[in-house]
Amino acid sequence: SKIVLAYSGGLDTSVILVWLQEQYACPVVAFIANLGQTEAEVAEATEKAHRYGASEVHVADLRDEFARDYAFPMARANAVYEGQYLMGSSIGRPLIAARQAALARRLGADAVAHGATGKGNDQIRFDLTYRALAPELAVIAPWRHWDFKSRSDLLAYAAAKAITVAEAGPSRPVSVDSNLLHTSYEGEVLEDPAIPPPPGLLQRVRDPEDAPGTHELVEIGFEEGDPVSVNGQRLAPGALMGVLGEVGARHGIGRLDVVENRIFGFRTRNIYEAPAATLLWHAHRAVESLVLDPEVAQLKEEFVPKYARLVYRGLWFAPEREMLQAAIDHSQREVTGTATLRLYRGGLQVAGRTSPFSRYDVRLATFEDDHAAFDQADAESWLRVTGIRLAQGSRAGADVEPG
Ligand code: ARG
Ligand code: SIN
Repeated sequence: SKIVLAYSGGLDTSVILVWLQEQYACPVVAFIANLGQTEAEVAEATEKAHRYGASEVHVADLRDEFARDYAFPMARANAVYEGQYLMGSSIGRPLIAARQAALARRLGADAVAHGATGKGNDQIRFDLTYRALAPELAVIAPWRHWDFKSRSDLLAYAAAKAITVAEAGPSRPVSVDSNLLHTSYEGEVLEDPAIPPPPGLLQRVRDPEDAPGTHELVEIGFEEGDPVSVNGQRLAPGALMGVLGEVGARHGIGRLDVVENRIFGFRTRNIYEAPAATLLWHAHRAVESLVLDPEVAQLKEEFVPKYARLVYRGLWFAPEREMLQAAIDHSQREVTGTATLRLYRGGLQVAGRTSPFSRYDVRLATFEDDHAAFDQADAESWLRVTGIRLAQGSRAGADVEPG
């Protein structure tokens, strides 16, 4: 038999890599997905996978695919979980799991393994993706089975097996997940939601206090709902998200400190730094604001929270997500144009938007008199008809005096 492990190079998956070889006495293949974490992280993971005995190490550069086929469809929806979280981790898992399962099939493996814990959300996204795409594969999620109960048990095993552990200190004492969209931090020093993260813990976004003292304008170009250029320069999806991430980070954009409801119903405190996702979200809405039919826009607002919940709950490859996606994509055919964002010390404003399909009509909107475009007398008949039902339920005679 053969197992393909989704390997990150962190403590948990390193212990799992060694443990799987011990438990199953079979080759364990390390699958390393590059979704835009740092080059150093990918290189370190590759080196460690060899060091800890992986029979083969496969590194997949999935940056373009992640942006184009996962982040962009989600951004077409303007999806947000519980009003704040842009789901940078939630949307990464289905891609990692899909490519891992495909690799397992190609190598004739019979099992896939991951390092997500039995309490968390990520296991659900991994497992449900395996179910949807490769139900014949066995799933090994050691956290749900092994005798280690805590991080300290893990550390003891790591010490016994000469597995290196990143030094403690404010820079890396928590669970960190990083990709093109965001970096998420959770656990340990962050577990008390009453206190802020210690100085030095957050790595990605500049503290607004240290951000440049002059603003920067960024123009993002869109075609059919997807970003295609930055400041007039066409970029491949992965590169584009990389650029947005850098500009946003420089100006202190996209930090979020939240308590969110996990899928299992208990709360967790998370810190996110989502510079690229934040810029994209605001810019996309700005272009939509010129183009979308008002009823379509309203309907979209109504079902997008449902869509976001599906993404959060690991249902990317489920028919109901695909159904909503089809409706969202249909709404995007004319979401082409540009949005200019003004970034300054942690703040972001839309500074302008354009579209060849714009339905913004200055002749209608203007306060200057333009009788040809809109006859103000028409307002009266509209009001008479609209008011009919209110007049019928009239509270005439009721006391409308204040007090
Ligand atoms: N709570 C967030 C989510 O469910 C972040 C999860 C981050 N995952 C991680 N392995 N650090 O999407
Ligand atoms: C984990 O528990 O493995 C990470 C956090 C999560 O999945 O929610």
